[in-house]
Amino acid sequence: MLPGEGVGPEIIAQARKVLEALKPLGFHAEVEDGAVGGVACESHGSPLPAETLSLVQRADAVLFGTVGDPRFDHLERALRPERALLGLRRELGLFACLKEVVVPPDLVRLSPLHSERVAGTDLLVVRELSGDIYTGLPRGQRCAPDGDFEGQREGFDTMRYAEEEVRRIAGIAFEMARARRGKLASVDKANVLETSGLWRSVVSELAAQYPDVELTHLYADNALMQLIGHPASFDVIVAGNLFGDLLSDAASALTGSIGLSASAMLGESAKGMFEAGHGTALDIAGQDIANPIACIRALGLLLRHSARRPDLSAVIEVAIRSVLHQGYRTVDIRCSSTRLVGTERMGDLIADAARSGSTFTEH
Ligand code: IPM
Ligand code: MG
Repeated sequence: MLPGEGVGPEIIAQARKVLEALKPLGFHAEVEDGAVGGVACESHGSPLPAETLSLVQRADAVLFGTVGDPRFDHLERALRPERALLGLRRELGLFACLKEVVVPPDLVRLSPLHSERVAGTDLLVVRELSGDIYTGLPRGQRCAPDGDFEGQREGFDTMRYAEEEVRRIAGIAFEMARARRGKLASVDKANVLETSGLWRSVVSELAAQYPDVELTHLYADNALMQLIGHPASFDVIVAGNLFGDLLSDAASALTGSIGLSASAMLGESAKGMFEAGHGTALDIAGQDIANPIACIRALGLLLRHSARRPDLSAVIEVAIRSVLHQGYRTVDIRCSSTRLVGTERMGDLIADAARSGSTFTEH
């Protein structure tokens, strides 16, 4: 577990309780903590210290808290807290990020969208996580060697994808679509970008192997409009690293709180990294008001993908839904006639519900 800073440690603490609660169900995990982010910069001089790297290399799975603190914004990029996340993705070979966004009936009114619009939303964003403009070389800042602004300072990055990179992420997305409702939307900017031109051809070629999946291609700007206008029309969305970053956060905002949905980051092996995916929320850190649900869901994803225990993942999801159905809410998801609880209490309630292995059906 890599708690990080901000609300990270307190939400991770709740996931830990839920993990403990699974012991009576026969699941035991050995947990070790590592330092990442700004706190690690302070204690070890690096956002991703060697000790933490060797810890995650030995681990079967990683539960990641949150990193990021503007106090470190003046540092060079390599020393900023966010580097921890990017470095871990690279070290662990994580190339897929899965973000499931579901708007359950109990929470439909929280959405910034009208209830009729958002009702029934149940989608999965499959984001490529290792390539694209995030890691493409060359990149840098320099004196512009040519063009209309020659001689001025300029920044540049390289967007690139090799066909195999596109194929492996698209393969995951097609498989997911096949196991869900059989619809896949591939997002690019093929009207402008060469990278996207290749992306679109490779995805289209692969589609021949999935005649049961209905594939559509959307330009990224249109995809975001559709996501806001007709979220329930999506099943699986696949995109490169940059467009996927925007789409995942926009999609999770549909639930009305980024404190609800979690991400799974996966590679070739079963070892994945799982996170709430929201920020450090420094303004509310340490006040026992942060919503621990996304982090507890991240634990559920860990159990499903790395521990290969979908049954326990389901226990956690049922526990969360039953606690929400009983009306318990942290402040970010509060509405009238609900019972306001803090981070700790929410964690206890979900852990208790998981321990009793309660079943629950939603209407
Ligand atoms: C995310 C974040 C990261 C990203 C940042 C913190 C580097 O926005 O996980 O979505 O852009 O990948
Ligand atoms: Mg993001």
